[in-house]
Amino acid sequence: MKAVILAGGEGTRLRPLTLTLPKPVVPVVDRPFLTHQLDLLSRVGVTEVVFSIAYQPDRVRRVFGDGEAIGRRIHYAVEESPLGTGGAVRNALSFLDDTTIVFNGDVLTDVDLPAVVERHRASGARATLVLTPVPNPAAYGLVETDPQGRVRRFIEKPQPSQITTDTINAGIYVLDTSSIELMPAGTNYSIERGFFPGLLERGDHVGAFVHRGYWIDIGTPEKYLQVHRDILGGRFPVALHGSAREGGWVHAEARIEEGAELVAPFYVGPGCDVRAGARVGPDAVLTRAVAIEAGARVADSVVWDGTSVGEGATLQGALVGTSVRIGRNATVGAGAVLGEGTQITDFSRTA
Ligand code: GDD
Ligand code: MG
Repeated sequence: MKAVILAGGEGTRLRPLTLTLPKPVVPVVDRPFLTHQLDLLSRVGVTEVVFSIAYQPDRVRRVFGDGEAIGRRIHYAVEESPLGTGGAVRNALSFLDDTTIVFNGDVLTDVDLPAVVERHRASGARATLVLTPVPNPAAYGLVETDPQGRVRRFIEKPQPSQITTDTINAGIYVLDTSSIELMPAGTNYSIERGFFPGLLERGDHVGAFVHRGYWIDIGTPEKYLQVHRDILGGRFPVALHGSAREGGWVHAEARIEEGAELVAPFYVGPGCDVRAGARVGPDAVLTRAVAIEAGARVADSVVWDGTSVGEGATLQGALVGTSVRIGRNATVGAGAVLGEGTQITDFSRTA
């Protein structure tokens, strides 16, 4: 059993952050996003993984390499132009063996993957889909099942009149690899609009595993912030690097000056510098080498590597990319997303 991680989307809804860092490697608190998926896969003993990439492959390679450093074997199936979710899996075929786990590269979940694989094996299904209930299925792939837990219908991005259930495709599949050969090679093809409806039409057994635990698609700024709140708040448990302190986490290589205020929950990463009179938290993440000057306030925000927040500045509900300079007494408010290298001059106000 091996895995394919679909990591080829451009991450348009997370621009400008994803202009310089593809979504699979955006930091989630203290590690690149896909690390969480690799951890989940190792729970079923899968350490050989194909990253299916169509966008900035070198930047992903720079982070994960061949996987040896983290005890994995990582292959890269790179598309010249995006092949779609199905075409991308088909493109990875030469790396696979009898059974394949496919992950959308932007979902974070604590699904019981061993139980999903077990269900797939025991049921004899050709494909088993993880489903999860959401309040608004319209933005996802709606999946109808029968009382026996078999998939009956798959409608990608349903119209309001087509919403008959709240269970959606969670973007995690176990497939008999032989079924992947049904997909056309070398052409753009959707696993959601083409492959799954096709299997159902053929009368193949497509199984469902409903997951009612944690699940989120990190594809929008609001969801990306939410993931951080969930990890800091313990709703998605991650053993963060660093030690617990005042209800948050501080990395051993961070410097918190005497007189700086930390308000739980928070994460302060390596090389960060929080000056006396600054306040960090609640729900603040400083990934690495972030400087927070005296009197600055950072709450409900994620701040990436090498950014500095000037004296008396305020960040509230903001996503701030790498190497951003926020001037003195500037205010960056809810909904702001600042791309790499942005300079905010002293006393500016945004959002
Ligand atoms: N390699 C490659 N090539 N990967 C791709 C391509 C491509 O052409 N297109 C999309 N992907 C990757 C994305 O990077 C993402 O990780 C995953 O495939 C799904 O694409 P999204 O663009 O994020 O789709 P979505 O979120 O609108 O919908 C999908 O995910 C939902 C769950 O989050 C669908 O699978 C829905 O059915 C599902 O409910
Ligand atoms: Mg998505």
